[in-house]
Amino acid sequence: MNTENLKKKNMEIKVDENILLKIIIMEEVSDPYVQWLNDYEVTKFTEQKYLKHTLESTKDYVKKKYYSNNDLLFGIFVKGLHIGNIKLGPIKFEHMSAEVSYFIGEKKFWGKGVATKCLQTIIQYAVIDLGLKKIHAGYYENNIGSARVFQKCGFVVEGIKYSDVIFEQKRINSVMVGYLVK
Ligand SMILES: CC(C)(COP(=O)(O)OP(=O)(O)OC[C@H]1O[C@@H](n2cnc3c(N)ncnc32)[C@H](O)[C@@H]1OP(=O)(O)O)[C@@H](O)C(=O)NCCC(=O)NCCS
Repeated sequence: MNTENLKKKNMEIKVDENILLKIIIMEEVSDPYVQWLNDYEVTKFTEQKYLKHTLESTKDYVKKKYYSNNDLLFGIFVKGLHIGNIKLGPIKFEHMSAEVSYFIGEKKFWGKGVATKCLQTIIQYAVIDLGLKKIHAGYYENNIGSARVFQKCGFVVEGIKYSDVIFEQKRINSVMVGYLVK
């Protein structure tokens, strides 16, 4: 296994007849994308809420991920509209493992099964195409939506980081989840 696997940067993965995952490029960074990142409702369960995002900073981030040898940053496109992202990375080829994270920025698409379908598709790609054996992720304990998405995709809770983060002035736990290929 080596980083040659990640050279296909214009990669697209079909999720279903409406949803497409596409490696996101700088030209696709839009004002709505930046607005999602500055929207507390979207980012409150992530570390993004501590940053002020601009068109410039978002393009820089997308560029960095585009040229990274161990990250795949996909935009989630529904009928051609960019509505969020899902990232596989960092990938550790030496351990055949990777982290995964995602967000749906366009709130009208919440609760429609998009995150679940995209995560299932990314797992399939990671396991079948990249040969990875382990995928891990984490979420704030009170992020019920994300907890359910991971559970529906076959992730199991592997650990709790007690009192790990501050959420709205209260210390709360983080949950570590993993998907293991047997
Ligand atoms: C959390 C998030 C990814 C869920 O995405 P989604 O596409 O709305 O999720 P799905 O529609 O696939 O829902 C999967 C399940 O979770 C449930 N769910 C989703 N959001 C929920 C919420 N806020 N509260 C309770 N349940 C929720 C759904 O009802 C569904 O359960 P079911 O199949 O038993 O009915 C999305 O709301 C989001 O991006 N939020 C902001 C960013 C974020 O939290 N990212 C994850 C950081 S770990």
